[in-house]
Amino acid sequence: MAARINTSLHNALSFLKPFNTPLNTKPFSFRRNSFRFSKKLPYYSQFSSGKRALYCTSSSQESTVDEGETFFLTTPLYYVNAPPHMGSAYTTIAADSISRFQRLLGKKVIFITGTDEHGEKIATSAAANGRNPPEHCDLISQSYRTLWKDLDIAYDKFIRTTDPKHEAIVKEFYARVFANGDIYRADYEGLYCVNCEEYKDEKELLENNCCPVHQMPCVARKEDNYFFALSKYQKPLEDILAQNPRFVQPSYRLNEVQSWIKSGLRDFSISRALVDWGIPVPDDDKQTIYVWFDALLGYISALTEDNKQQNLETAVSLGWPASLHLIGKDILRFHAVYWPAMLMSAGLELPKMVFGHGFLTKDGMKMGKSLGNTLEPFELVQKFGPDAVRYFFLREVEFGNDGDYSEDRFIKIVNAHLANTIGNLLNRTLGLLKKNCESTLVVDSTVAAEGVPLKDTVEKLVEKARTNYENLSLSSACEAVLEIGNAGNTYMDQRAPWFLFKQGGVSAEEAAKDLVIILEVMRVIAVALSPVAPCLSLRVYSQLGYSEDQFNSITWSDTKWGGLKGGQVMEQASPVFARIELNPEKEEDEKKPKVGKKTGKAKVKVVEQTPTVAEA
Ligand code: MSP
Repeated sequence: MAARINTSLHNALSFLKPFNTPLNTKPFSFRRNSFRFSKKLPYYSQFSSGKRALYCTSSSQESTVDEGETFFLTTPLYYVNAPPHMGSAYTTIAADSISRFQRLLGKKVIFITGTDEHGEKIATSAAANGRNPPEHCDLISQSYRTLWKDLDIAYDKFIRTTDPKHEAIVKEFYARVFANGDIYRADYEGLYCVNCEEYKDEKELLENNCCPVHQMPCVARKEDNYFFALSKYQKPLEDILAQNPRFVQPSYRLNEVQSWIKSGLRDFSISRALVDWGIPVPDDDKQTIYVWFDALLGYISALTEDNKQQNLETAVSLGWPASLHLIGKDILRFHAVYWPAMLMSAGLELPKMVFGHGFLTKDGMKMGKSLGNTLEPFELVQKFGPDAVRYFFLREVEFGNDGDYSEDRFIKIVNAHLANTIGNLLNRTLGLLKKNCESTLVVDSTVAAEGVPLKDTVEKLVEKARTNYENLSLSSACEAVLEIGNAGNTYMDQRAPWFLFKQGGVSAEEAAKDLVIILEVMRVIAVALSPVAPCLSLRVYSQLGYSEDQFNSITWSDTKWGGLKGGQVMEQASPVFARIELNPEKEEDEKKPKVGKKTGKAKVKVVEQTPTVAEA
């Protein structure tokens, strides 16, 4: 069945009101985007960089950049049809790491997340669970907050689309777009995917009219709806993308967006006559506002403060536009086509960048609530801890591409990188320092490193990590930090300080300096890895003799060589990352010839990281 809009009214209206600049508002403008998210308007100073952190959060009191600079990023607002799965957690982990990095640069960060709670899909899932929608939304929305706590996500604002302050903003936005002549009423007939909450083009569907994302048949619908005149924005959108190709990232997603636009933009329906669970259309309470026309506004309504006057202008003045919308590739069209057009219509600035990452997959299929092939994030965090989960997904999946999960790979990576390269090096060094130097540093790390090439290597790798964080190449940023760890391990093995201590005299003095150098390497790693593995970084920092407050006030400039000073006393060595051991059942399985699937489970076991025989 072909989608069909009764356009007679639309044509009449467009005739009366051809494309023009939005009413009552400042003309739309788009600022050139810099991938370094460099300076932007000093909009406001409401959200201080000190407003962070719930958990092991780094902050920035000594800033290396203009204090007025704001970095505003968002995750999608998650549907509350079911509790979060690892795919939903992925975007949020990435967003949190980017936020933490930006805070380290001294920026005021506004990190927004939240839940998308209206629409047919949510109402159906509430009913299926024997709950009324508000009850259901409260429950599932809370499960997101709980997961974010477990994963050490330090967001600034959590918006729920059922929040009355959000509703006020949506209605005002609707009225603006209406006043601009971009909303009209018409009939629509087409194929609808309830999981996408979207009418689909027949040509994009699989056999039996199945949605390619959810692999479920779309349903035929005929409705009398309100429409948004997206087609009017075809040319402006083309121009924006031509002038600001970095608006859509990674660059390969830009081609996709450009080809959608080129194939011709069609107006889309922004209300539902058959759905009660939603925000009523102003002046027509027989219809509710379409979930996307509602939820996208969450990025603005989240800025408002509780118990203050809620209007669009105030909200916008609190920080809009966003520096970055972080989303999965399946919702790119909404963010890179619909949303900019809606904002233009309302006379508001556009976000600076939309980054569409790939999917976490299982057996090559998108992991998702609708397909039921999800990975349980609560279980994963409980079993392996937040640092391991955060590190694995950011290190293992090239940000932008898809990535498959396997428990074997997970264990292998976190053990090799976090337990061995980082944890074990710290443990060995502190052990030797205790035995030979009463846990006290003999000189400043700058003095110890005079003429030592390792210092230059570390400085280059720190720069590499920074560039990669800035470019959202999170896996490469992790890799650069790990290379610092590898360089430290190589230095330890080559210098063999345990042997030099045995020789005594000048050799022992050199060995004591070597330990200072390696511990300085550890300090730099702790700072540079803190956006990704904040608790692990805190544990490293604490063992180097710093307080939690000192850790909480680190900035990226603390990656500079020279933080550790002579006379500083280190803590007792204790493993900063518990090595994950396969349980005996699994180890037995591993030894057997592989037939079919493995069933064994991994467990976390703290393994004492003692010096090797040669060091003892
Ligand atoms: N409610 C909308 C977003 C509205 S934003 C104003 C929505 N919600 S969702 O819960 O279905 O998806 C939220 C995000 O999770 C999307 O960016 C989606 O791509 C992401 N993911 C869901 N499953 C995923 C994977 N398996 N892998 C990676 N990300 C995935 O869409």
